[in-house]
Amino acid sequence: VKKDFQTSAELERLRDALHVGRPNIGDRAKFLARVEGILDRRWLSNDGPLVREFESTAAGILGVKHVVAMCNATVALEIASRALGLKGEVIIPSYTFIATAHALQWQGITPVFADMDPVTHNIDPDSIEPLITPRTTGIVGVHVWGRACDTDAIESIAR
Ligand SMILES: Cc1ncc(COP(=O)(O)O)c(C=O)c1O
Repeated sequence: VKKDFQTSAELERLRDALHVGRPNIGDRAKFLARVEGILDRRWLSNDGPLVREFESTAAGILGVKHVVAMCNATVALEIASRALGLKGEVIIPSYTFIATAHALQWQGITPVFADMDPVTHNIDPDSIEPLITPRTTGIVGVHVWGRACDTDAIESIAR
């Protein structure tokens, strides 16, 4: 672990920090071997072999025909909101990463914050309906901490 940090003081500080969430790190050697391959090929952007592999593997897991990888989730949310023709107001959870709101705001859409469920930390479906106005065009659910939000309830409200 130590080699990831500049100094042991920095490592100490991070050890004591109270993290909201931390990613799992998979097989380092496997990952680094892939990075070596990227550097050997000198193909760093635009439709390289690993992007294609990622898209086809994700499509297989998701059971869909097409997957298009994006540079980050913020841009993906912006593109999705444009593709869906969202405008006016969109209801989002009040507990999420701020990019959920930014991606909409940057498309000229007003994010409207719904309450969260204190147990799951996901959007509370009961709090959505009172927020619907004639300007509402969508609801964004977020799977906080990787725990799925109640998509069935949200979809039925949306319909
Ligand atoms: C729910 C959610 N949406 C969007 C983002 C933005 O992702 P990115 O940093 O890849 O743009 C994050 C990042 O943590 C997120 O947790």
